Amino acid sequence: MKHYKLGVIGDPIEHSLSPKIHNIFAKQANIQIDYQAYKVDENDLEPFIEDFFKSGGDGLNVTLPHKINCLNVADKCSADVKTIGAANTLSFNKSSNQISAHTTDGAGFVADVINKDIPIFNANILILGAGGAAQSIIPMIHAKHPAFIVLDNRTQEKIQTVLDRFSLLKSDEPFIRAKLTDLKNFSKHRSLKDNINVVINTTSAGFDGAFSWNEDIFTTKDTIFYDLSYNKIDSSTPFLSWASQYSDQCHSGIGMLINQAALSFELWTGIKPDINLAENEVFNE
Ligand code: ATR
Repeated sequence: MKHYKLGVIGDPIEHSLSPKIHNIFAKQANIQIDYQAYKVDENDLEPFIEDFFKSGGDGLNVTLPHKINCLNVADKCSADVKTIGAANTLSFNKSSNQISAHTTDGAGFVADVINKDIPIFNANILILGAGGAAQSIIPMIHAKHPAFIVLDNRTQEKIQTVLDRFSLLKSDEPFIRAKLTDLKNFSKHRSLKDNINVVINTTSAGFDGAFSWNEDIFTTKDTIFYDLSYNKIDSSTPFLSWASQYSDQCHSGIGMLINQAALSFELWTGIKPDINLAENEVFNE
């Protein structure tokens, strides 16, 4: 039976749930894996990845702060990686000796959103934050045809960088400014019935105190709040504690974490894990 050598690289990495999740998937699929969490310093990144694959590695997950720099060792990049400029999954083709870079974050997010019946089609989606996490979900949200994707960020100049990056998408994709805008523009041009239907937090705000946001974000009691962050113990986060005063529809990123992991597992092994079973096990074991 094939034995897969897998892992996740990041710094810090001690608290990663990925080894646990992938071992649950492997048990489900009845296959053998050796999935380790590796703390890798930025200066050791490229030799570490090359050695890992040279010594029999099949696949690596990549987390902060390596999602961009890992592309320096990739021979091939998927279309989504080329668009967002970052990857979270590397796979190795042993016959061609090539490393391929993929991103499963955006697809994992959308899979979880569908699973939770969160409406994206024709909805106004507000993304708080303009870093790598925000950029990783924009193309997949756009592919589900929202009315608007609205961006807001503490540092306003960074919003323009993201708007510019995504306006450069191929012209046969109807992804242009009309659909992707910033909160100031949305606020100026919206009609009174245009509210924000879904707020997605991609920032790390609140982890050193309570979360708060300075701008009016046009929510109603029906607005759904989704945090890309998660807490290993329960479903709360600083953002969701703040959001709970406005809405009772609040979701943490644990579902996204499991879905993006499942997509990586499928890339490496060809086997699709049962997400719901895995989600129960992550917390019950
Ligand atoms: P990632 O790749 O995880 O998105 P990042 O690129 O460092 O990480 O981005 C972190 C995001 O959290 C940024 O949007 C950052 O806002 P700035 O661009 O203004 O730095 C946001 N962020 C972090 N701490 C914050 C805080 N206390 N309040 C508001 N936004 C914050």
